[in-house]
Amino acid sequence: MGRDITTPSTRLVAAARIAAASLYDGEDTDNLVAIDVGCDHAKLAIYLVQSGICQKVTASDINEGPVSKARENVSRRTLMGAPLSDYIDIVLTDGLTGLSDRNANRIFILGMGGEVISGILDRADFVRNDVNKGKIKFILQPMTSEDKLREYLLESGYNILDEEMVLDKERVYAVMSVCFDGIKREYTPAQLLLGKSNIEKGGELFCRQLDRRIRITEKAIADRKKAELDCSELENLLREMQEMKEKTT
Ligand SMILES: C[S@@+](CC[C@H](N)C(=O)[O-])C[C@H]1O[C@@H](n2cnc3c(N)ncnc32)[C@H](O)[C@@H]1O
Repeated sequence: MGRDITTPSTRLVAAARIAAASLYDGEDTDNLVAIDVGCDHAKLAIYLVQSGICQKVTASDINEGPVSKARENVSRRTLMGAPLSDYIDIVLTDGLTGLSDRNANRIFILGMGGEVISGILDRADFVRNDVNKGKIKFILQPMTSEDKLREYLLESGYNILDEEMVLDKERVYAVMSVCFDGIKREYTPAQLLLGKSNIEKGGELFCRQLDRRIRITEKAIADRKKAELDCSELENLLREMQEMKEKTT
């Protein structure tokens, strides 16, 4: 039996493609073992093994509903004659709790708030130990608070290796490729908000996001001025973004 591939959303396919690329010279990308935290219906996990990107996936979720739907979706499928459950393990757990023995070299945390994602990483000491340092590629996609997530990552010694802006059903998502190396880094306010590599790469989606952020910041400044509150930080951010806009036009 061949590979019967169920293609998920553009956003999840982009995350899978980012995971497939090697993290360091000489990495064995024929042996990628993943954890997908917050797997929902396990669409990504199914795609990762069906497409041959990952050899094993632990798909976890904190809620029973998604876990039972994920189990049902996996149990209905086979891969080259074997049950898909030989390749995908579905686990009910909070974040990465209890998953330190999975020997994962790819960890996906997608579709959650930026602060939820940083909380999940922060509670999982094993991802930063000497064995795993530099060996796990994290693929992160926040729905909100992108700036807070970037700030947490940089302050905690994670390196944001690359970012990709993905358009999926009229919404733009930032998908980050991240690795822990223990070195703290700093971004400017606009780099935290928009992503340093997104700024460097530019492009149509970036310009769209930049315009949106400028509009939101202008409104926040006007609101704060009305309430007679300090807006110096927002004004600095706005200035930095306006300078960026001048360079792109
Ligand atoms: C909006 S869905 C996103 C599903 C999928 N990751 C995606 O990007 O399409 C968020 C999922 O994360 C799960 N979730 C939220 N907090 C979690 C946590 N602390 N640990 C594990 N799963 C969590 C929810 O139950 C839900 O299934």
